[in-house]
Amino acid sequence: MSAAATLLHCCDPLDERRVDAHFAAEAQAARACGATVVRLDHDALLGGDTERAVARVPVGAGPLWYRGWMVPAERYAALDEALRARGGSLAVTPDEYRRAHELPGWYAAFAHLTPAGAWLPAAPGQPPTADGLTALARRLPAGPGIVKDYVKSRKHEWDEACFIPDLADATALRRVVGRFVELQGDALAGGVVLRAFERFVTPPDGAAAEVRIWWSGGEPRLLTAHPDSPTGRLPAAEALASGLGPVRDAVRELGCRFVTTDLALREDGVWRVVEVGDGQVSDLHKDVDLPVFAGLLTDLRHLVQLAR
Ligand SMILES: Nc1ncnc2c1ncn2[C@@H]1O[C@H](COP(=O)(O)OP(=O)(O)OP(=O)(O)O)[C@@H](O)[C@H]1O
Ligand SMILES: [Mg+2]
Repeated sequence: MSAAATLLHCCDPLDERRVDAHFAAEAQAARACGATVVRLDHDALLGGDTERAVARVPVGAGPLWYRGWMVPAERYAALDEALRARGGSLAVTPDEYRRAHELPGWYAAFAHLTPAGAWLPAAPGQPPTADGLTALARRLPAGPGIVKDYVKSRKHEWDEACFIPDLADATALRRVVGRFVELQGDALAGGVVLRAFERFVTPPDGAAAEVRIWWSGGEPRLLTAHPDSPTGRLPAAEALASGLGPVRDAVRELGCRFVTTDLALREDGVWRVVEVGDGQVSDLHKDVDLPVFAGLLTDLRHLVQLAR
């Protein structure tokens, strides 16, 4: 990595001088590649104190690659503005970040590769009306569905706040969506998304059920298991090959420089994109080779913006 490459990591909430423990090994690997690591106060950023959030970033830092916890798109834009006021900036623009981070931003480019989805803006604590929900569900194929917001689901509360056995069952739809909005609280991002449920299977060779592909400059640079996967084992390259071409085209259409796509094998043998994310805030599987990942971040800064 060039000595000029600078990564912006979240600091430890209890000790601003340290990188957050969750990212400490990553930061160390990046430093070993010659990167400079500077720190962001993530709590202050999310709390609205943007000046404090960037207080430890040296003036004149230039372009910064963020690696850290998810940031709401509006806070990411505020972070970029605060950095610009002191001679820095985020290398991934706020517009690019929102497009990759929120489902309505990436959906059109991936519509043929991902479960059908429809969404409605919603404020924290305010689920859509019963009529609004029914109309939303009608835009999807009949059958089961799932609910999430523009960024996250509550997959760990599957029956209560994620899975909808029948989208035409207005009572169950209201109950599950209502519970989802309630549990998300202030963290509700953007609004409510309903998606058609598709049946995914575990690949036959004991590989991870979801594969995370890290793309930069429109090329797949790294394959990892989804961070939740108990195993780091990946499907054979030949098994994935059929799925990769169409995803590459969609990533290029999206036009963001650093993104992840999570792929799962549908029961009919077709690879599907479960979701897209901004690479800066996508979590890593525990088995990832950190020097290899640091090398991926190294390449990023040499990439030109993809044409949209
Ligand atoms: N349309 C769908 N059909 C079938 N299963 C789905 C669908 N959408 C989501 N799931 C299941 O729910 C899980 C969580 O969904 P998703 O990845 O969209 O949410 P998330 O909360 O952003 O998860 P994470 O960020 O941890 O990957 C997926 O890994 C998948 O197993
Ligand atoms: Mg996911």
